Amino acid sequence: MAAEARFPNLHVSDHALAADKLARIRARDTSPGDFRRLMREIGSILAIDALRRLPQVDDTIETPLETTTAKRLASPPVVVPILRAGLPLCDGVLDIVHEATVGHLGIRRDEATALPIDYYMKLPPITAATVAIIVDPMLATGGSACDASRRLRSAGCREIRMICLVAAPEGVSRMLKEHPSIGIWTAALDRQLDERFFIRPGLGDAGDRSFGT
Ligand code: PRP
Repeated sequence: MAAEARFPNLHVSDHALAADKLARIRARDTSPGDFRRLMREIGSILAIDALRRLPQVDDTIETPLETTTAKRLASPPVVVPILRAGLPLCDGVLDIVHEATVGHLGIRRDEATALPIDYYMKLPPITAATVAIIVDPMLATGGSACDASRRLRSAGCREIRMICLVAAPEGVSRMLKEHPSIGIWTAALDRQLDERFFIRPGLGDAGDRSFGT
């Protein structure tokens, strides 16, 4: 069954460049420098789709030749990377939406239990019109994404979307149950989680591979 039919909250990119970049990201011998660059590039590709339907307003523009009307963003989105692994992907999102502000959420997964542990939060001003974009390459159990969504809702975010690189069915399913209004844009829906809660086939630990730790 197609991923979108199974999960109405999920949008899997069909872009050939996203698929090629993801293949290189998955490869075990990709260096941290190339890994970060590819994450940044794929972040831009995923953002094109995830931000396609941002709210717009009409504006009046002076071209060099005449006055005309044009569509502008109603308000800049708030992009929210989950530390650490969300940072390279977030850079790619910001490359195509310079007017965005950025909030940081520090969440790490306990290695034994896979439960999320919060360690940092700093958000820019949130208004009723704010669209918040959670950015994290891995959606595994969904614990971190659900935790991030709860914290953004508590901060007043009414509309939230998520960009990730690879998603496990378990995480997508949990997001659908706990936060059904949050759309998720990903480069791939992978097969399953393993007994250590790693995504398979996956790409390993995105934070460690990005930063060489
Ligand atoms: C990874 C990943 C997500 C989380 C996904 O972060 O970047 O934030 O795990 O797992 P979940 O869906 O089961 O919550 P990690 O804890 O490895 O932190 P890091 O980014 O600092 O490496």
